[in-house]
Amino acid sequence: MRLYTLLAAAKINLYLEIVGSRPDGFHELIMVMQSVSLCDRITVRSIGVDEIRVRCDHPLVPADETNLAYKAAALVMAQFPDAMAKLGGVEITIEKQIPVGAGLAGGSSNAAAVLVGLDLLWNLGLTRSELQDLGAELGSDVPFCVSGGTAIATGRGEQLDALPGIDSLHLVIAKYESEFVSTPWAYKTYRAEYGDTYVTNTQGWQERQAQVRSGEMVRAVARRDAIALGQHLCNDFEKIVLDAHPKTAALKATMADLGGLGTLMSGSGPSVFTLAESEAQANELAAKLRSALPDPDLGIWTAQFVPSGVQIAS
Ligand code: C5P
Repeated sequence: MRLYTLLAAAKINLYLEIVGSRPDGFHELIMVMQSVSLCDRITVRSIGVDEIRVRCDHPLVPADETNLAYKAAALVMAQFPDAMAKLGGVEITIEKQIPVGAGLAGGSSNAAAVLVGLDLLWNLGLTRSELQDLGAELGSDVPFCVSGGTAIATGRGEQLDALPGIDSLHLVIAKYESEFVSTPWAYKTYRAEYGDTYVTNTQGWQERQAQVRSGEMVRAVARRDAIALGQHLCNDFEKIVLDAHPKTAALKATMADLGGLGTLMSGSGPSVFTLAESEAQANELAAKLRSALPDPDLGIWTAQFVPSGVQIAS
């Protein structure tokens, strides 16, 4: 086969707690991550010349070596130079649906799809865990995006344990097109604000003294208890990002007032989601949100929980 098309799912964080800052500059996290059906289409195609080409239909996504999808292909090529010598280079086409710079792992999911796609295209026979190890070199969220579903993520986000899926849940996602959050800025600001609540632990990194509260969320997921899940949504970045982005703070307040199971900002934001128990409820919440905030700058999507991160498109 000379071409594969894959669906790369967005992720939301049902839980994101920053538990400390590490000597390597990263933060130690406890997260519960969930793949959702909002996805980009990624096509990888063999080309005769030894190069990587990226094409994307979104004006804000760079089609050069700074794109994480390009970096994913470059990494695989560096690891398996014989494959490229035999089969030539690759053209990556990205059709964007996942909003950019939103905290929904759009870039990471595209990179994960390229890893899976090149494994197929070049017959590398890599295992999921080998693909995830490659993914960890590209970014903290990429390993989750390879496997997807529902998982608890620790370390800098790359250490994963699968949780039982709750695939019946739906959601509304909203984001102001003109608002973006830089993830490094969010971590840096968080550390500046809360760093003095940290103590040095036995491993030599700065640990927050606050108690870890992830148990309630993990229990809610394990019991597939949608009501409890909605009640235990938590994201430490809200403290930083909502203060700096009053429009997004107001969006979150409006979404929380519409009903639904619970409302939270995803990742480092600024996208916000509200969970719904059915597709009908998600559609109803989306319509209510549109009439409450008729601003053309506001993007609104409905989606549902899905059990995988990357799928071959049918
Ligand atoms: O891993 P990734 O490249 O997605 O991370 C982007 C930036 O976010 C890192 O350079 C770092 O500043 C910050 N980060 C962090 N702790 C993490 C994950 C990311 O400080 N666990």
